[in-house]
Amino acid sequence: MTSEGTHLDPNDWDDFSLEMHKLMDQCLTRMKSARDFPWQPKPDNLATCLSLTPEAIGVGPKQAFAQLTDDIMPYATGNTHPRFFGWVHGAGLPVSVGAELVAATMNSNCGGRDHGAIEVERATLDWLLGVSGLPENASAILTTGTSQATILALTAARNHRFGHDVRKTGIQELPRVAVYVRRGTHSCIGKALEAMGYGTNSIHVVDTDDDMKMDIASLKRAVEEDRSVGRVPLAVIGTAGSVNTGSFDNLNEIADFCADQDVWLHVDAAFGFWTRLADHPWAQLVDGMERANSISCDFHKWMSVPYDCGACMIYDRTLHFDTFTSRPNYLEQQKEGLGGGDLWFCDYGLELSRGFRALKVWTAIKSIGTQAFSASISDNCKQTALMAELVETSDVLDLSFPVASNVCCFYVAYGDVNEIAAELQLSGDAVFSTTVIKGKACLRAALVNHRTTSEDIRHAILAVEAAVRRHR
Ligand SMILES: Cc1ncc(COP(=O)(O)O)c(C=O)c1O
Repeated sequence: MTSEGTHLDPNDWDDFSLEMHKLMDQCLTRMKSARDFPWQPKPDNLATCLSLTPEAIGVGPKQAFAQLTDDIMPYATGNTHPRFFGWVHGAGLPVSVGAELVAATMNSNCGGRDHGAIEVERATLDWLLGVSGLPENASAILTTGTSQATILALTAARNHRFGHDVRKTGIQELPRVAVYVRRGTHSCIGKALEAMGYGTNSIHVVDTDDDMKMDIASLKRAVEEDRSVGRVPLAVIGTAGSVNTGSFDNLNEIADFCADQDVWLHVDAAFGFWTRLADHPWAQLVDGMERANSISCDFHKWMSVPYDCGACMIYDRTLHFDTFTSRPNYLEQQKEGLGGGDLWFCDYGLELSRGFRALKVWTAIKSIGTQAFSASISDNCKQTALMAELVETSDVLDLSFPVASNVCCFYVAYGDVNEIAAELQLSGDAVFSTTVIKGKACLRAALVNHRTTSEDIRHAILAVEAAVRRHR
């Protein structure tokens, strides 16, 4: 029989403290030796082993923690490993693990009210907006990732075009809209338009030029065509780092066009945003981004902050606020006390209850500093150039597309790329993902890992060549 109150806290805090320290030591050991832990397949019986059946639950922290370290931690995605190049997966940061501990301890709700966590998010976003180059009056909010940020950005674009009454009336009585994307735009744009009720039919795909940048003449034709049939151009999506090829649109050219045509410019800069911090010539890839009406980016990719954290930036704070604010009686602003404060993030996005994502980002920036991030991002760009060089000199590999920053795709002379990718993953040599470029399947590497070295690149390419030759 328990006494009233604290039913869910540990019975014995001393014991719990010992268990926590043990757990932390095991986490630190794992992080310190990330190189020893490439991706490995999960055991067949893992689902059964983790099943929360009545007999398996209520076992206390000691047993639960043992399962965390023995049954769960070994079967991660593998992106902490320096030769993980698949999709676009950030590598994680030990300092952010410390921040996660504090965030969970504080258990702050960052939807609103007047408390310290809000100031941490404000400071983080001020830093981010500074990097973006957006005007003084811009605002931002942390999101789960770029996909969620895109919904926020395009909702602001819709309200900007049709007025805030659309929040009440919905879109049914409004004209059809068109959103312009170049070939290879990320699927999150389509998903956002589906969620907004416009559907993917509202997407107008614009041709790319030989460098895989949005072709402005085609964009101009597309907008003219839509206007002639009464479709309203809602937004142009510029891409800063396309997921397939890593190519960057000419954002200044698109910004000129959008300014001339009075069309909203959204920049999907999920990972490309961070080339802003890199050395020349990569930093210049995002020139013009600061002229966008909205930008989305991720901290959990190239900034290595543990999942999840992205951001949505809007050029006009008032528009951003008016798009999302909604305060029923119980959330009314107070003059003082906890119900006060000048910044409630529920006024800038869809969520009311929000976690303290900002702390892991703030801690990363505070402790590591911009210079070290810049060096690591530039290193990844140099390593990608090295990978392309090795591919070009190989007799069994063939570059699919010139490298712009941190994505390298290449065809193989023999075998199926999906089989080869799986073999390399299973052997622990490297994780590549696959894609299709110019109609042909290829291996794809996106380098966003601060642990990667040039030696890792040489090792990975030698392993790929050996795997390809086995398929000869
Ligand atoms: C260019 C681009 N846009 C959007 C996304 C979606 O971002 P998230 O996974 O954070 O929602 C990605 C993910 O890889 C991406 O590379």
